[in-house]
Amino acid sequence: MSLVFAGVCSHAPGITGRAQLADAALREPFYAAFRKLGDDLRKTRPDALVLVGAEHFANFFMDNMPAYAIGMADEYEGPIEDPAWLGIGKTRIPGAPGLSQRLIAEVMQSVDVAFAEEWKFDHGLIVPLHFLTPEYDLPVIPANINCQGPPLTPLHRAFAFGEALRRAADSVAERVAIIATGGISHWPATPDSGKINEAWDRDFMDRWSRCDKDALLGYTDAEIYRDAGQGGFEIRTFIALAGAARGAGTVRHFQPIPIFSVTCTIGVMEVA
Ligand SMILES: [Fe+2]
Repeated sequence: MSLVFAGVCSHAPGITGRAQLADAALREPFYAAFRKLGDDLRKTRPDALVLVGAEHFANFFMDNMPAYAIGMADEYEGPIEDPAWLGIGKTRIPGAPGLSQRLIAEVMQSVDVAFAEEWKFDHGLIVPLHFLTPEYDLPVIPANINCQGPPLTPLHRAFAFGEALRRAADSVAERVAIIATGGISHWPATPDSGKINEAWDRDFMDRWSRCDKDALLGYTDAEIYRDAGQGGFEIRTFIALAGAARGAGTVRHFQPIPIFSVTCTIGVMEVA
């Protein structure tokens, strides 16, 4: 069929784990936008959701770190974190192994992607799913971009990974949705946790909305680290989504919530 839906969202663990500490006037509109993204995703009747994330040393470690990986399991489980800490109970998430294999084979035509038949979802995937598919009834194919352990894949390769995912989605009979999830500026697990560079975030999402490839790729990692923290490296997921959809983006929600450590963001992009 083709790519039927493309969106982006935040995934910080505080979104669920520190829910009660947030101002309800900020929290509830964000939750509503998150759930609406899920409603709109399901309206496109996808056979599977490719969820492009940036996991945090839950499955992939510095002994053998893939730049890109795609899941190929019958099912997944998560969260890997303490459910009480994250505010999300342990669950199983159906996979789509046959579709995964065909997507991986096509992505491999241009990207040397790793694959995994075992994958435990950390907050980076389970927080979005908690809002998008709360019944965990839509098959998920996790895809990961290493945004944590340098040397990191260059931004232009993240865009090319998105292009490969698009080509793969267009090559199969199934209806494929892609949602990418990452932080914009944030400084997780550092003394600066909670700091947000709203101006930088706004400028990045403006570049993303225009799907302006040159502007999206116009950062060095040194600049990202200086202005957006080590968490800012996760813009690779949003850049990959732009490479996949290549249409006009709409930022539906953009609200810094310091107790959640990020500018809480929801966006959709036309599939061009
Ligand atoms: Fe993250």
